[in-house]
Parts: sequence; C-alpha cells; structure tokens
Amino acid sequence: MGLGAGARFTWLGHSTFLVETPGKRHLLVDPWVEGNPSCPARLKKLPALDALLVTHGHFDHIADAVSLAKAHDCPVVSNYETACWLRSKGVATTLEMNKGGTVDVAGVKVTMVSADHSCGISDGDAIVYGGEAAGFVVTLENGFRFYHAGDTNVFGDMALIGQIYKPDLAMLPIGGLYTMGPLEASHAVRLLGVRKVVGMHWGTFPPLTGRPEELRALCGSKVEILDMAPGDSIE
Ligand code: NI
Ligand code: MN
Repeated sequence: MGLGAGARFTWLGHSTFLVETPGKRHLLVDPWVEGNPSCPARLKKLPALDALLVTHGHFDHIADAVSLAKAHDCPVVSNYETACWLRSKGVATTLEMNKGGTVDVAGVKVTMVSADHSCGISDGDAIVYGGEAAGFVVTLENGFRFYHAGDTNVFGDMALIGQIYKPDLAMLPIGGLYTMGPLEASHAVRLLGVRKVVGMHWGTFPPLTGRPEELRALCGSKVEILDMAPGDSIE
C-alpha cells in the first residue's frame, strides 16, 4: 500500500498505531498492547520507542502507557490532567498540553485537537478526572500529516481540522457504541476533506460492529478507505 509518506504505520489493533517516521523514530499512539485482544503476539515486542501519544485516559488507550514509558524511557504526550496522573504513577517525562497546542517531540510536531468523548481514568475502583478527550494531528519530518481522532463522535469543527491542517491520512474510529460508527464517520471524512482513511476501534469486541466496508460504501470512490487488519503496515 503506497501512501508516499516516507513513514510506516502499523496497526496493532483497536486504536493503537506504531509509527516509524521518515527520520526512523518510533511513536506509539494510544498504547494498548499487552491486553489488546487484537494485537498479534509478534508485535507485542516493540522497537525502541521515542514517544507515546495518549488521546485520552480510557484503559483501551492508556493501559500500557506507564509501563512502556518506563521501559523505553520515553516521554508521554497527553493533556494536562492525564499527564499529572501519569506522573503520579512514576512516569518521568510527560509533555503536557491542551487543544490547539503543538509540541515538538521525536523530530515531529504533535498538535492536540478536539474530540467529542469522555476521559475518566480507571484507577483501582475509582474513576479519576482525566481532562478532556482529544485527537492528535502529527506533522512528520517531511511534512506528511496524519490525524488520529482518538475516540470521538463526528463534530462540525472537524471541518476546521481539515481547513487548518489538511491531513494526508486520518485514523477514525468506526466501531460504534463508544464512538461514531460508519454513518457518522462518513460525515467526518467529508468534513475533514481527507482522501485516505484507516478505520479503527472496530472488531476488538463484539459490540464494536462498524466495519471499513460500510464506511467505504458510504464515502464513494474519491476516498480511499485503506484495507488494514490488525498487524498490517502501510508505507
Ligand atoms: Ni474512550
Ligand atoms: Mn476507546
């Protein structure tokens, strides 16, 4: 699959993506690896990570953030409240930010954008306030830009994300129930004006019923809904 990105995107299942940048750095977005039922065993041994990006504090996006940040001695990018929680668990380096902000990390630029979702962090029996759920727009060293929406419903200001950042690739949740499904995601694609899309957050559990072929049928031929299974890579 040719993206012309000079980068390699590997889907570990659910919302977890390993990105090898043009500069050969490794980012892991929404680190859920060990307990992720979709993640192939061969991919649970990760390369040396240069940064973790956490969209929000639900377990299926943050579960391995603490252990991987410690094991790889790498920074974690998240919102302020989630960063405070990560530090309380012993994460040494957090890059805290909020929507509209951009941080430089591992040679790329990471911009936090809105998401329409919740963000409680499960900590033992308690739910800790984790700030607001977000998405990320990442600008790679060569200018290629991808948008990882995190968990979200469609919202009208996705049009602004499209206008301001013009992402070359979007990872959008399509499973339904906890996020938008294919119908809503087809409107997200239109608002974003993006031509290459990877569906995520589907198939992990039986209730996440949305499928890429449904999104493909709704989007028409001008949009490429990439055909990815957990473990697949695109370059
Ligand atoms: Ni969530
Ligand atoms: Mn989720």
